[in-house]
Amino acid sequence: MEVREVKGLADKYGEEFISVAEPIFSHELYQSMKDIAHHDDSVYDHCLKVAYYAYRVAKRWDWDVEATIRGALLHDFHLYQFTKRPDRNILMEGLRHSRRHPKQALENAAMCWDISSKEKDIIVHHMFPFAIPRCREAWLISFADKFVAAWEYSSRAKRAVLPRMRMLRQRI
Ligand SMILES: [Fe+2]
Ligand SMILES: [Fe+2]
Repeated sequence: MEVREVKGLADKYGEEFISVAEPIFSHELYQSMKDIAHHDDSVYDHCLKVAYYAYRVAKRWDWDVEATIRGALLHDFHLYQFTKRPDRNILMEGLRHSRRHPKQALENAAMCWDISSKEKDIIVHHMFPFAIPRCREAWLISFADKFVAAWEYSSRAKRAVLPRMRMLRQRI
């Protein structure tokens, strides 16, 4: 990872956030998430956004900032692209992915870093209501994840719909 890229992230997210996050996001495997599409962008960008918004709340409420950032960065570290298997129901496949990917994320994270029990809770239980978070930081990341996902889906929808609306307007 280039120094210039880290500097850009530090300008965007602040030194405190980056000092905790850098050992994770600069890892080669973590960087590979840039190539895994997710909502409107990549899993890499999604996890950074969730970690940053959760960090802002955790800092304001004087919660465990380090576990919040690390757990949030790793909550979707499953390293595979969700794809529906042919001849399977999309709803059932979605449910399967919802249950499966947090466990895979923890397994991958534990291969690369020492994961605390709080970080484990954050990763494994972020898919509420399929899992129930045990600590307040895990609840925070579960909600930050949903908030960011909703934002990402709406911007993807906007990107898809706006050009068509413009074309229609030009025809009228
Ligand atoms: Fe997830
Ligand atoms: Fe997520």
